This record gives sequence, structure tokens and C-alpha cells, in this order.
Amino acid sequence: MTTPATDRTVGQIAAESPAAVRVFEKHGIDFCCGGKIPVAEACSRKGLDLAGLLAEIDQAIRTPAEDPTDWLTAPLPALIDHILDTHHAYMKIQLPRVEARLAKVLHAHSDRHGDMLRALAAVYGAMKAELDGHLAKEEIVLFPLVRALDGGAKAGPFHCGSVQNPIRVMFMEHDSAGEALAEMRRLTSDYRAPEDACNTFKALYFELAEMESDLHRHIHLENNILFPRAISLE
Ligand SMILES: [Fe+2]
Ligand SMILES: [Fe+2]
Repeated sequence: MTTPATDRTVGQIAAESPAAVRVFEKHGIDFCCGGKIPVAEACSRKGLDLAGLLAEIDQAIRTPAEDPTDWLTAPLPALIDHILDTHHAYMKIQLPRVEARLAKVLHAHSDRHGDMLRALAAVYGAMKAELDGHLAKEEIVLFPLVRALDGGAKAGPFHCGSVQNPIRVMFMEHDSAGEALAEMRRLTSDYRAPEDACNTFKALYFELAEMESDLHRHIHLENNILFPRAISLE
């Protein structure tokens, strides 16, 4: 890939290159839900030098990628399998585990960090509830529909009509998860554990930051690659 043009969106560049995703992540540039803006604008919002960022992406593209698959051209069922095996499987283990850890930390540290931890637990709890339903909707409704469309079926026989209907709902829920992640990052001062944090507290922040990273990649694969490809099948 050549150096991306400056008027292309962050989401487009991320869709073409997993290496660019790593660079965006490093600089805190939102490449999934907030990825609809031109890369030049994303840079100026972050106070970053555009030429420097593009050079960094170029450099990252030339180093071997951790996931070498080109999901823009790989078969759609393989992309769905990858999302299920990598991201849905991860969320199903981590969503309840982090919830339990957060409850434990809140119990142990409520005297000094109660307000922040209660706010964090409220945002996390709402996000988890929405994501539990969201994963199920993708697995039960949307992904089977996309597999059928990929196999040559028309959307008509499905009760939800056009594939654009469930996709619209998924987009809204992704935005909602993105807002929850941003709010949790704000509440925790970018996941910097307080001086008096115990190891469970630190583990909680580590796991929340890891979940954020995983969810950004997950939503990116769906918003920027799977959904546009599914819509183009109709
Ligand atoms: Fe998903
Ligand atoms: Fe999703």
C-alpha cells in the first residue's frame, strides 16, 4: 500500500491495513466508531503532525503484521469465524470476569475510591448488559444472514428484511460501547492506578484497558469491513 491520501478517513485506512490500526491505537486515534473523519482532521484534533503519522504508518506496513490476513478480500465466512473465535470468545470470558473483579475492588477500596469505582461499575455494568445482548444478536440474527447472503441467498426470506436493518442497530450499539469505553478511560485517568492500589486493582485496570483494545479491533472489523461488505452483497 502506498502512503494514504490525507483526505481519506481513519476508518478506511484502518480497514486496508492492520498495521495502521496499531499506529492509530498508539496515538489514541479512534479508528472504529469515531473513524469516519479524515486522517488529517484526526491528527489536528490530537495535535499530531500528519506527515509524521503517515510516515509511521508506512513504516508499520513494512514490518510483519501480527494478523497477515487481508480481511477486505478474504471470504466473508472466514472473517465471521475470525470475529467469533477471536473477539466474541474473548468477550464471553472477560465480560463476567472483569465484572466480578470490579465488584471485588469496589468492596475493598470503597472508603478512598468509592465515588470513582461506583461510577466505573455503573458504566461497565450498562456496557456489559448491552454487549451480552449485542453478541447474541450478531450470532443469532446478523451473522447467519450474512453467511446466507454470501452463499447466494436473497435477503427477502429473512424476517428482518434487508441486512441493513440489523446492521443499523449494530452500528448504534457499537457507538454506545465506544462511548462507555471513553467514559471509563476518563473516570480512571487513562487507567493509571492510584498510589494505594493493590494488585487486584491494578489487574482490573490492565484488563479494562485490554478489553478496550480488543473491542476497538472487534468493532473496527465489523464497522469498517464486515458490514460494508455484507451490504454490498445485497
Ligand atoms: Fe461482534
Ligand atoms: Fe458488534
